[in-house]
Amino acid sequence: MPAYLSSIVLTLGVLCSVGCRQAVEPVSSKNPDMDLSRMDALIAECSVCHGVSEAQRGPILNGMESWYLSDQMNKFRSGVRGGRPSNRSEHLMGIGARKIQSDLEVAYLAHFYSSQPPKPAIRTVRGDLEIGGKIYERRCVSCHGAEGQGNPQIHTPSLTKLEGWYFLEQMRKFRSGDRGYDRRDHPGRIMAAASKEFSDTDLRNLVAYCIDAFGLEEAKGANGRLPGNSSKPVLHQAPN
Ligand code: HEC
Ligand code: HEC
Repeated sequence: MPAYLSSIVLTLGVLCSVGCRQAVEPVSSKNPDMDLSRMDALIAECSVCHGVSEAQRGPILNGMESWYLSDQMNKFRSGVRGGRPSNRSEHLMGIGARKIQSDLEVAYLAHFYSSQPPKPAIRTVRGDLEIGGKIYERRCVSCHGAEGQGNPQIHTPSLTKLEGWYFLEQMRKFRSGDRGYDRRDHPGRIMAAASKEFSDTDLRNLVAYCIDAFGLEEAKGANGRLPGNSSKPVLHQAPN
């Protein structure tokens, strides 16, 4: 990234702790490439799949870490992630990523979503919390931390803002090689290697534990069920 962009991005980072939407304006006025009405339109396009209701196609991004959001957007943009038509949901996001036109837009979007308040999520994954906790301790804690907080130094994201359905789906993708397959994707490959020989029961126990121990607050849905129009799978019924 050219030096002038890095300094803008740094300024965005500092200002965003004060309040992103308002604070960004004076910075962008120095940069003729940054069109805020375009950014609003872009965010509206992202929201088609990344809104905050339970019926969306992509995960809720609110409150995820800025560095991780940028990393993943860049992976989608370069085809390191999302290049496989067989991985249909990733492929869908590959289409979404083509709407992003510059590094500056990546930084803006990452700051926008990371500064949005996290939403409660409906818990769709059930499992044995005790067994899940033991697996987490043995197999995950060294990289993702005792509170699932992650560690940017080794490129491990926080696991505290993930909806259950998305968390489980990603674990299955890492396991099957549908994510973390590209040879340029070093963090993805490390994570894929860490999830190879789990059974589906292991994964459900693990995800149920993580969400219970440090995940998003539980949404109080009508009798705990997904809304009727939700396209999200209820994953605890998946076969082993
Ligand atoms: C057509 C639907 C669609 C659109 C539009 C879309 N996305 Fe996505 N996005 C997805 C899906 C589906 C996934 C999950 C991919 C998977 O299952 O691996 C995803 C994943 C992501 C991730 C990775 C999250 C993670 O935890 O790893 C980020 C970041 C992201 N999208 C950002 C954006 C941004 C920013 C925009 C707007 C420029 C956008 N997306 C537009 C469908 C979309
Ligand atoms: C050796 C270090 C390491 C271990 C052990 C590890 N991970 Fe990861 N994990 C990573 C890295 C690195 C990434 C980032 C991958 C990327 O950039 O796509 C990651 C990504 C993830 C993601 C994707 C989050 C998202 O938003 O899409 C999930 C979920 C996850 N790990 C869960 C786990 C669980 C559960 C365990 C225990 C079974 C585990 N990880 C063990 C390093 C590790």
